[in-house]
Amino acid sequence: MKTNASIAAFYLAPAAALLSASLFAATPPGPPPRVAPAGPAPLSRLETLGKNLFDDRALSEPAGTACVSCHLPTTGWASNNGSKVGVPLGSRPGVLGLRNAMTNGYSSFVPPFSFRVKDGDTDPVGGHFWDGRANSLAEQALGPFLAANEMNNPDSATVVRKVAASSYANLMRAEFGAGIFNTPDLAFKKIGEAIAAFEGTTGFQPFNSKYDDFVLGKVALADNEKRGMQLFMDPTRGNCASCHTMDPTSKNPKDSLFTDYAFYATGVPRNAAIPDNANPSFFDLGLCGPARSRPALTANVPASVSVEQFCGTFRVATLRNVAQRKAYMHNGVFKSLREAVSFYATRNSNPKRWYGPTGIANDLPQAYLGNILSDRVPFNRPASAGPALSQVEIDDVVAFLETLSDKVPPTPGPAAPPQPPAPGAILNPFGSR
Ligand code: HEC
Ligand code: HEC
Repeated sequence: MKTNASIAAFYLAPAAALLSASLFAATPPGPPPRVAPAGPAPLSRLETLGKNLFDDRALSEPAGTACVSCHLPTTGWASNNGSKVGVPLGSRPGVLGLRNAMTNGYSSFVPPFSFRVKDGDTDPVGGHFWDGRANSLAEQALGPFLAANEMNNPDSATVVRKVAASSYANLMRAEFGAGIFNTPDLAFKKIGEAIAAFEGTTGFQPFNSKYDDFVLGKVALADNEKRGMQLFMDPTRGNCASCHTMDPTSKNPKDSLFTDYAFYATGVPRNAAIPDNANPSFFDLGLCGPARSRPALTANVPASVSVEQFCGTFRVATLRNVAQRKAYMHNGVFKSLREAVSFYATRNSNPKRWYGPTGIANDLPQAYLGNILSDRVPFNRPASAGPALSQVEIDDVVAFLETLSDKVPPTPGPAAPPQPPAPGAILNPFGSR
C-alpha cells in the first residue's frame, strides 16, 4: 500500500525536480545526479507485471476481455464490459454473468472473512466478492480467468501458457525465476499475487476526492452536500453511516472507507434481466450460494446462531466512487444513484414501487424473507410514516455521495515503454511502466 506521503509527492514534486535534472544533465562529467523520482512512486516490477496482466485482453477465451473490461477507473472501478442490464458481458458474445461487477477500488482494505461477535450480535464480515468467498486479493484474482461467464479459460494451464507467450513474459521470469513457466500451478498462483500487488497501488485508492479534501480542511462542502452528509450520518434519518462507515473528524482517510464489510439482506428487488432469474425458483442467496458453499460457523459463534439467518445477505459495498458506477447493488438492478438512494427512502413506505403489486420483497424465497432487515433505520418504519427522506433530501444525499469521487486517473491502456515525462505534466498515477 502506498502512503499518503507518496500521493502528496505525486502532486507536488515533479516540475522543479525535472528542471534541475535537465540542467544537471548538461554538465558532464561526474556521477549522474540523484533526483527524487518524479510523480507517484513508480510501479515496482511486481506491480508492473500485475498491471500488464490486469490490462491484457489476450487472457480470455476468446480473446477480448481483460480485468479492466469490468473494472474501469472511469466508472469507479466497476463496469459491466458494455452490458447495460446490470450484470456484465463475459468474453463469449451474449453471455451474461450473475452479479454486477463490484468495485475493486479500495478493495485492498477488505479484511478476510470471519464471524464477528459483538454486543450479543453475530455478523459475517469481510472476504472479497459480494458473498465474501475469497479471502485475499491474490486468491480473488484467479477466479475471473476460469469463470465461464467472465474470461472463460478452460484451466489454469491455459492462462499460464498465454502469459508465457505474452510480451511481458520476461517480467514473470525476472520476478519468479527463469523456470517459472515450467510449473504452471505455481505460475498461476504468482499471477494472482502480481495482480493483487497492482491492486494495492495508489491508483486504486488515491483518497483524493472532494470529501478527502474536505476532511483535510482544504475545501468546503456546498450547502446541499453538507445537508446530504448530515442526513447520511443522522441515526434517525438516513442512518447510512451505520453500515457505510465514515469519520469526517479524522484526518486519516482510512477512517472513511464507507463500509463496515458486514453482510445484510436489504431486500433489493429482483433484476429480471439476469439470465438465471428466468427460472422463478432460482435465487441468489449471497452468503448461502450459489457462487459459494455456506460458510462454516466458527467456534466464537453462539450455538443459537444458524447460518440460515444469513442467507440472502451481501457485503456492504464501499461508496467511494459510487457516483461513477453505472449499475448498483449485487444484482445491478438500479441504474442510477438516485434510484438506489430512493430505494432506501421508500422501501417501507412504497413497497409496490420496488416489488410490484404484491409489495412483498421478490428476490428471496419465502423461507428467507425474515432475514431482510426491518429493525434498523431507515428500514424500521411503518408504511404510514411515509418516506424516510423527501425528494429534496434524496437529492442532497446524492450530492454528498458525488463528493466521494476520486479525481479519475487516466484509463490504463496497454503498458507503454518508459518515457520521460514533460516537466509539469500530469503523471499517470499508475506509473508509466
Ligand atoms: C466479465 C466481467 C469481469 C471481469 C472480466 C473481471 N471481473 Fe472482477 N468482478 C466482476 C463481478 C461480477 C464481481 C462480483 C462477483 C461476485 O460477487 O460473485 C467482481 C468482483 C471483483 C473483486 C471483488 C472486490 C471486493 O471488494 O471484494 C475484485 C478484487 C475483482 N473483481 C478483480 C478482478 C480481477 C483482478 C480480474 C481479472 C483477473 C477481474 N476482476 C475480471 C466482474 C468481472
Ligand atoms: C444496514 C446496513 C446498511 C445501511 C443502513 C445502508 N446501507 Fe447501503 N448497502 C448495504 C449493503 C449490504 C449493500 C449491498 C446490498 C446488495 O447489493 O444486496 C449496500 C449498497 C449500497 C449502494 C450500492 C453500492 C454499489 O456499489 O452498488 C448504495 C448506493 C448505498 N448502499 C447507499 C446507501 C445510502 C445512501 C444509505 C442511507 C440512506 C445506505 N446505503 C444505508 C448496507 C447498508
